[in-house]
Amino acid sequence: MHVGIIMDGNRRYAKMKKLFPRFRGHLEGKKALETLLKAWIKMKEPKYLTLYAFSLYNFKNRSSLEKKFIFALLKKGFMELLKYEDVFKREVRINFIGDTTKCPKSLLNVIDEVIEKTKNHKKKFLTFAICYDGQQEIVDAVNEILTSKGKKVTVNNFKKYLYTRELPPVDLIVRTGGEKRLSGFLLWDTSYAELIFREETWPEYNVTMLKQDISEFRRRKRRFGK
Ligand code: FPP
Repeated sequence: MHVGIIMDGNRRYAKMKKLFPRFRGHLEGKKALETLLKAWIKMKEPKYLTLYAFSLYNFKNRSSLEKKFIFALLKKGFMELLKYEDVFKREVRINFIGDTTKCPKSLLNVIDEVIEKTKNHKKKFLTFAICYDGQQEIVDAVNEILTSKGKKVTVNNFKKYLYTRELPPVDLIVRTGGEKRLSGFLLWDTSYAELIFREETWPEYNVTMLKQDISEFRRRKRRFGK
């Protein structure tokens, strides 16, 4: 099973809790993610988890101070993941999609290290979308095809040009923070995905909610299978 999560609402959480500056909410988001990941690693399903950590749109529109804060959090988070022994014991392969070349060099170095150190893992697959945009992903694929002089494009062989070529299609998208849209997340891979939108902000999301969302997904699948 492949679950994608759009982690939205960090700044609204900060506003609610009167944290200042508003982007302090991202720190609370990081904490929520760590707790969730620790639980997810021990769960049988979903085998594939893809997280929208930072969109290309975020990159273009957030202040340089906020970006600095988020990139520093990501760097710290990825370094911590490398020290977490369950990542190795339970063979979690960690990968990244998006235009990570936009990240500061020191974050890129950590990203490269994470990819390298987990590349032979085969049991669970954790993917971070960073400076990611689904339209850009599709356009990049088209350009690769144009320069490769390959054979005719089909729905099936198009997939191997996407950033997500090694991932199965998405079964379920969960978006926190109350907005009801995909915001360019995994556009190709979500064409048959079930969508769940939650009012809770990302820092409020937890493993109990993830389990509820998976149960809801299974109920929907059973209804549509008949
Ligand atoms: C959306 O909330 C969230 C982001 C733009 C950043 C998400 C980053 C993290 C959760 C940190 C990740 C940490 C690790 C370890 C990978 P928003 O700012 O759009 O909130 P709003 O909708 O309330 O304004």
